[in-house]
Amino acid sequence: MEKIRILGDHNLRLKGEVKISGSKNAVLPAIAASLLTQDKVRLGNIPLVKDVFSMLTLMKELGSDYDLKKNALTIQVKKILSEEASYELVRVMRASILVLGPLLARSGKAIVALPGGCAIGSRPIDLHIAGLQKLGASITLEHGYIKAEAERLQGADIQFEKKTVTGTENLVMAASLARGETVLRNCAREPEVSNLCELLVKMGAQIEGIGEEVIRIKGADELGGAVHEIIPDRIEAGTFLVAGALTQGDITLIDIQPVHLITIIEKLRYSGAVIETIKDDVLRVIGSPEIKPQDITTSPYPGFPTDMQAQFMVLMTQASGTSIITETIFDRRFSHVNELLRLGANIEVSGDKALVKGKTPLSGAEVIATDLRASASLILAGLIAGGETNVNEVEHIDRGYEAIEEKLKSLGARIERIKI
Ligand code: EPU
Repeated sequence: MEKIRILGDHNLRLKGEVKISGSKNAVLPAIAASLLTQDKVRLGNIPLVKDVFSMLTLMKELGSDYDLKKNALTIQVKKILSEEASYELVRVMRASILVLGPLLARSGKAIVALPGGCAIGSRPIDLHIAGLQKLGASITLEHGYIKAEAERLQGADIQFEKKTVTGTENLVMAASLARGETVLRNCAREPEVSNLCELLVKMGAQIEGIGEEVIRIKGADELGGAVHEIIPDRIEAGTFLVAGALTQGDITLIDIQPVHLITIIEKLRYSGAVIETIKDDVLRVIGSPEIKPQDITTSPYPGFPTDMQAQFMVLMTQASGTSIITETIFDRRFSHVNELLRLGANIEVSGDKALVKGKTPLSGAEVIATDLRASASLILAGLIAGGETNVNEVEHIDRGYEAIEEKLKSLGARIERIKI
């Protein structure tokens, strides 16, 4: 077991340059997409985070060979050796559900454990299942596993009742090997979905409407290998932008795509931070001593991301006034609030709203990380809390942030990982 210890300081000013890693939520579907071909798929800008290693463990069980050198991955699934994603693997990483569509499309069969409960509320996969059924799959639930079968999937017109990121990704992958045309309506428009579609096009799929709500896919009989670059992680970038704004810092973020951060940048500017474009892929944030309160409502891209909600809440604890944060994507995604209260924040939760009263000086304490983004928010809070904060159960942070303590340390934070 490990924890992260932070020696916080109200007067901390983070300063320097930080390189942003590849996107966790873009690389996971890209790895799953390699199941659609027997050829090699080469992916660049791989973030070295735990979810990537969990995905690779699963892929190995399914029959893939891979070679990961630095941030470059070559992966090949010459033959599917197993069609089953076990409960042990799905339990540690819900995104394992991403193998359902490609496995079914390539080998006519997929058995994937039902993800079940999760720290950020109930996260059903009914829309993945309904979509695959529309493509002709017969799906049953047996002993906690989804069992999907189809001789060859058949293109269909599918309307998602609700926008779903991994649901859209599963269906785009499955449709790429289906017979005929598939139209997907009300698709998630997140850049991670587009990054996957671009990979599929390189593999030979015909896809129109990338980045839009309606995506049309003409299925191919076979897909081939490809070379593809994973986009930068917009949530890691957003987290460091908040770190700069929160500490009145001066941080330059390198290797990012500012266009994916427009809503986050808008909110940070409104709060008082100065954000300058240095180059196409470089941004600088300069924090202001006066942070303005504001109301934030999470919504699908290009709206304000739920994955930045916890980090913004910390910023709002330092605003001069009251902010209301409304979480519309997931129920129970306020588990960080109780921990922030332990650090001295003044937050009241009522249903899907959190009322954050600023400005409250925070003081260090023992806290527990409950999920990935909650952990990021606790680290941010620890940076400006007076004294020592220990973030326990820190393995959540490693699922999606590469070397977070080294990156923060290089900016001047006093932070270390401790084995317990
Ligand atoms: N939903 C359904 N039925 C479904 C699928 C989704 O009702 O079949 C609902 C969910 O319960 C939720 C909403 O639709 O209310 C959106 O969920 P979505 O399916 O978009 O979430 P996801 O695909 O499971 C991805 C990211 C999450 C991110 C969300 C929202 C990956 C691997 N995960 O999850 O990332 O929060 O989209 O943007 O891409 C994280 O990185 O920390 C993380 C949780």
